[in-house]
Amino acid sequence: MKYVFIILAEFLILVDSGKNDFNFRPNLPLGNYRVNVLAFVPCNSNSTIQFNFFLFKTSTNTTDIRGNITSLKKTIDDSLAIRISMDIKDKIGSWQSNAYVYKTPKAYTSLKNLLGAEYEKFLYSFGINETTHKRIPPGIYTTKGYDISNYPANTNLPRQIFYGTYRFKGVYMEKNGDQCGCVMFIVEIKRPWE
Ligand SMILES: *[C@@H]1O[C@H](CO)[C@@H](O)[C@H](O)[C@H]1NC(C)=O
Ligand SMILES: *[C@@H]1O[C@H](CO)[C@@H](O)[C@H](O)[C@H]1NC(C)=O
Ligand SMILES: *[C@@H]1O[C@H](CO)[C@@H](O)[C@H](O)[C@H]1NC(C)=O
Ligand SMILES: *[C@@H]1O[C@H](CO)[C@@H](O)[C@H](O)[C@H]1NC(C)=O
Repeated sequence: MKYVFIILAEFLILVDSGKNDFNFRPNLPLGNYRVNVLAFVPCNSNSTIQFNFFLFKTSTNTTDIRGNITSLKKTIDDSLAIRISMDIKDKIGSWQSNAYVYKTPKAYTSLKNLLGAEYEKFLYSFGINETTHKRIPPGIYTTKGYDISNYPANTNLPRQIFYGTYRFKGVYMEKNGDQCGCVMFIVEIKRPWE
């Protein structure tokens, strides 16, 4: 719970103070939310780790992430760092970059802390047993479907976020800063009943 607060605080500080080259105040209401995934955007051409995802609508308000994670040479573990950033769409429809940035070493454990119980579910949908592996060994992992419609329940994500449309990007990096994998989604942060 402490972790949640720090992330939420970091979010608010970054957004409110316009640190990190960023002067955008969303001027949007903040509150409890649900996540609606609008699109998966490929951003990892030539990366060692490939996230080949696509969306599959399973009902009017639920969407599965399907596809595969292909990492033939690299283990996804704590030797990698991860940079998570969120761009937010402003009132006139242009992206305001890096509304939220969170960079941390230990990619595997950090993502696990962020996604909580959902991390295990996510990996299990790709046939990876988190309990026994504690890392993602090289391989090709295909999922039949992973649903994030119930987020942020069962995760440690902030419980309140500014409503709006975000471009969420996660970049895996080597120790020397080289990018080795990238995943990008466009998501709507909506009121739970919307
Ligand atoms: C990917 O690598 C190939 C061969 O090295 C190169 O020609 C191409 O421009 C690269 N594509 C991108 C998007 O970097
Ligand atoms: C992984 O996904 C990509 C893109 O959809 C596809 O081309 C490739 O065949 C898939 N690999 C496997 C092993 O399914
Ligand atoms: C999806 O919509 C149905 C019917 O309106 C509702 O019962 C269900 O709780 C909704 N699911 C989510 C994840 O919002
Ligand atoms: C993962 O492996 C552990 C240890 O073998 C086992 O107890 C657990 O049930 C497995 N998880 C799933 C979801 O199968």
